[in-house]
Amino acid sequence: MWKKMWFIFALCVFMGGLAMGCAEAAGRHGKEERKAILLVAFGTSEPEARDAITRIVEETRKSFPGEEVRLSYTSNMIRLKILKEEGLEIDSPLIALAKLQDEGYTSVTVQSLHIIAGEEYHQLASVVRSLGTLRGKYGFARLSIGSPLLSSLEDYRKTAELLKTRYGMYGSEDGAVVFMGHGTHHGANAAYSQMQMLFDEEGLPFILGTVEGFPGIDTVKRRLAALKPGKVTLVPFMVVAGDHARNDMAGGDDPDSWISILRGEGYEVEAVLKGLGDGEGLAELFAGHIREASGK
Ligand code: CO
Repeated sequence: MWKKMWFIFALCVFMGGLAMGCAEAAGRHGKEERKAILLVAFGTSEPEARDAITRIVEETRKSFPGEEVRLSYTSNMIRLKILKEEGLEIDSPLIALAKLQDEGYTSVTVQSLHIIAGEEYHQLASVVRSLGTLRGKYGFARLSIGSPLLSSLEDYRKTAELLKTRYGMYGSEDGAVVFMGHGTHHGANAAYSQMQMLFDEEGLPFILGTVEGFPGIDTVKRRLAALKPGKVTLVPFMVVAGDHARNDMAGGDDPDSWISILRGEGYEVEAVLKGLGDGEGLAELFAGHIREASGK
């Protein structure tokens, strides 16, 4: 009997202590958790190309109900000149994060909508890292960043799968698909060659070139000469079909565009003016990175 009462007494002390501890902790941290996702794209000046980004924003909202989803652009040229003149305001990541902090969001995942972890991504990561060191009323309880599209080997495999589903039909029979990536002086440029190796491994008639990096159009021409396709389809390997896709890739009047160069080589060439974001599947790949970064 005494033994039983002693046990109940001990239990009460324990539970009471626990409850007090909880109350104390709640008092100390005060705020409830409020979650947000900040999507970060380079941005585009082409109104039609914006649909690809809008699509990713909407699909992210569906994948993460109950979380605030916002969009920011890294390109000041696009934000502060082109869009401002149109009366459109899109924040930079730094301003967007400051606003989220001001509005009481405590747990934020920044998701880069870049294809590779180049300079743009690393600049963004440094902003996130700096803000992550802030404490007290200026800091977030949790702030993390999701990696770009091509990071782990698994990412490349999933991307190849997506491209196969979407553009495989252009490569059937004797067709070839030439993708135009952006390319960069940054070391992350090697990502394009890794992507190409996966295409080759799977025996896909896909050739990946870049406008500003390696491989360029000369490598594309050499690969086409070896493949001897009856038909070539040009596709942007970028989230949006913006300026590069419309002019450098598909600008028929420009003798330096890829479509003009490849037609000049005697190929029958068509161009698809849709970015990777203009269809199903891309937002889901980014959603996977958001889950990873937020520890879900
Ligand atoms: Co560019």
